[in-house]
Amino acid sequence: MRFTGRLPLLSALGGRISAMVPWLTPSLCAGLRAAFQRVGFDVDGVPALLGADAHAALARDEPVPARLASVDAGSLGVLVRLFLLGDTEPAGAVADALAPVEVADAIAAGLLREAPEGLTSALDVRPHGDGVSGWWVVSDLETRPGGRRAALPADHVLGIGSASLSLAAATMRRPVGRLLDLGTGCGVQALHASRHASQLVATDINPRALALAAATFAISDVLVELRAGAWLEPVASERFDHIVCNPPFVTGPPRVRHTYRDSGLAGDTVAARLAGALPRQLSDGGVAQLLACWLHVKGQDWPDRVTSWLPHDDAVSGVDAWFVQRDVADPAHYVGTWLRDSGVDPSSPAARRESEEWLAWMAENQVEGVGFGFITLRRTGATDPTVLCEDLREPMVDPLGEEVGGWLDRVSWLREHADDAALLAARLRLAPSVVLEEVSQPGPDGWRPVAAAVRRTDGPGWRHELDSPAAALLAGCQGTLTLGELLELLAAAHDEPTGKLVAASLPGVRELVRHGLLVP
Ligand SMILES: C[S@@+](CC[C@H](N)C(=O)[O-])C[C@H]1O[C@@H](n2cnc3c(N)ncnc32)[C@H](O)[C@@H]1O
Repeated sequence: MRFTGRLPLLSALGGRISAMVPWLTPSLCAGLRAAFQRVGFDVDGVPALLGADAHAALARDEPVPARLASVDAGSLGVLVRLFLLGDTEPAGAVADALAPVEVADAIAAGLLREAPEGLTSALDVRPHGDGVSGWWVVSDLETRPGGRRAALPADHVLGIGSASLSLAAATMRRPVGRLLDLGTGCGVQALHASRHASQLVATDINPRALALAAATFAISDVLVELRAGAWLEPVASERFDHIVCNPPFVTGPPRVRHTYRDSGLAGDTVAARLAGALPRQLSDGGVAQLLACWLHVKGQDWPDRVTSWLPHDDAVSGVDAWFVQRDVADPAHYVGTWLRDSGVDPSSPAARRESEEWLAWMAENQVEGVGFGFITLRRTGATDPTVLCEDLREPMVDPLGEEVGGWLDRVSWLREHADDAALLAARLRLAPSVVLEEVSQPGPDGWRPVAAAVRRTDGPGWRHELDSPAAALLAGCQGTLTLGELLELLAAAHDEPTGKLVAASLPGVRELVRHGLLVP
């Protein structure tokens, strides 16, 4: 498949578009894979050559330690400097390193460029892995030769960024059949998904992204069906078991300056549309996971805003939804961050104009902040779906992906035990990672306990405050007695009616199960 078209939307806006769409043929990509494997330009070989310190420095955009470490490293050193450091290398050394690929073919494909002193890379090509599998990712360069960051063209194809990695880490990795990567860009989500999905479809609106994703998949030898088009158009009548989407989620005026970040829709409409539309494309029990931004508008609670986006019609019902807010930025911080991200000098007249226009839009729309986070949607068909919004802004011990699967399981279990009698018949135990935290104040008779809480030391680190009957109940949750039996014992010990204790305890027990502190 070859994509040569120009994006009408971008052309109409007059955005600066890259001169040519690179086309790395399948045979060129197979040749690159052979060369990379031969010289060790892969997820194991590059860190082994550079060593931990230079590798970490490279990740911080500090190239000198990696350059020093690659000096006597033969062809591997040449490829590290060519692709990871953006250096110009002698043509003969590049030809040796890339054999069997012919340098002339690599130039014609748009991978390499002739420079006065040799050859330089026209694309970013880098090894990438998940600790088990290793791949190669092709994207656009973010720096000009010489290391200066340039203002990015409208069709710039982003490499693996922190948003890409956070979605990859938050993605559930349970085996599934069909998976859709919506807005694939350089193809990074589909690569990760290739480990748990048996059939992959990836879409993008940007022909350049489709061409680079095709190269990513061909070099990495991963089979992905690529489709061109906007949003869900290319898969309109299809259903998927899993959808992952890192959309162009930047919120602001409706415009497209960069396809990787701007949807052309005003504010958080892109998140609203996707949250409403993705469940329709899911098979029964299928899960969609996306990154999103949502506006904090004066006088409106953010949970009310985001939950209003869910589909409420007969065609798709019973959608479990979990909105996790990881960060909130004030408008000035938000706009400044995204201007810098697109390579614009914040003090330039162009940046000033864009910033003023953007902040004026925020003010007109009474935006007080922009939330950022993950949305998980599961099509269940249940009459009583669970819809929950949580503010989880603290750093997390573990990636969210594992937790998403656990959260969905626990939500299903709670639905099956919605009846009080069913919950009371359950045998629950405390998760092994739970600790009890007690706060005491000094008093005339020594330390006086004033508060207690249970906390998970793994996952998102959920913490729930407890009173002493609840602490006693949890101490008894060891998987032997049923919850009902424990509450009866507790009622007898405190000389209280069992019914009163049951009514007071069950809502809290449900919360503790949902957060994985109590395990059925
Ligand atoms: C933030 S990038 C994500 C790229 C990659 N999936 C990742 O995780 O790094 C968003 C991608 O969505 C694509 N995109 C933008 N508007 C789109 C639309 N209307 N329909 C489909 N894809 C779109 C962009 O071209 C870009 O590749």
